[in-house]
Amino acid sequence: MLEKIVEIVKQAGEIFKSAKNDLQVEQKGSNVNLVTKYDKEIQDFLIAELKKAVPGANFVGEEGDDNKELTNGYCFIIDPIDGTTNFIKNFQHSAISVGLAKDKELIIGVVMDPDLDNIFYAEKGKGAYLNGYKINVSNCKMSESLVLFGTCPYEHHLADDTFNLAKKVFLECVEVRRCGSAALDICYVASGKADLYFELILRPWDWAGATLILQEAGGVATTIDGEALDAGKIKSYLCGNKENIKEFYEILQSE
Ligand code: IPD
Ligand code: CA
Ligand code: CA
Repeated sequence: MLEKIVEIVKQAGEIFKSAKNDLQVEQKGSNVNLVTKYDKEIQDFLIAELKKAVPGANFVGEEGDDNKELTNGYCFIIDPIDGTTNFIKNFQHSAISVGLAKDKELIIGVVMDPDLDNIFYAEKGKGAYLNGYKINVSNCKMSESLVLFGTCPYEHHLADDTFNLAKKVFLECVEVRRCGSAALDICYVASGKADLYFELILRPWDWAGATLILQEAGGVATTIDGEALDAGKIKSYLCGNKENIKEFYEILQSE
């Protein structure tokens, strides 16, 4: 099943790469929440092809009004373009993200960065890979960590909390980055390109595929309050290794 899903995501990557000056950008409720014809086209393609690969599967996808409930049985959780603003600006750092849950537990994750042709994938219990090579989270302490964070761009009321926390962490780590794709942020932690990532609100389609990859790479993913993640709910998100997650909590509680 994993091989088939990887193949389908790579084909979706070709749709992403075919984009020219024809994005047809629209707003989704606010001037910062944008969608393009490619978000919709890629989601439609993924749903049509994944349905053939796993007959009877249900879907949770970012675009469209249907398909928002995580169900029992096989259920795909899809973000057709994670990092739409980067895509629109040709910043060249976005992802196509597919997670597959069985009875609400993640069993497969596939995340592609079509700009770099990087494909991250994992199957539960079988390790995590980037372009065929096994990946692992780092064992960096906070003082050695490169920290990624998300700004919750669609929830401006969280700006103070986000940037205050980012400042506190910045003063304890090597450096911080805000790259613009949560799925890639998590995969970068999974592969040791970065060491910790947090965001105060994240939707399941942003993290589902990447989180199985992170866990299979030996990483820890939780909410910022230390609760278990739930692919059926919108919560905060934190991932890293055991050591720097512990230090993150100490920083969070410090004055
Ligand atoms: C967003 C990106 C961004 C994160 C936001 C997400 P989108 O996804 O992952 O990095 O900060 O919270 O909503 O809207 O580009 O699919
Ligand atoms: Ca997203
Ligand atoms: Ca998206």
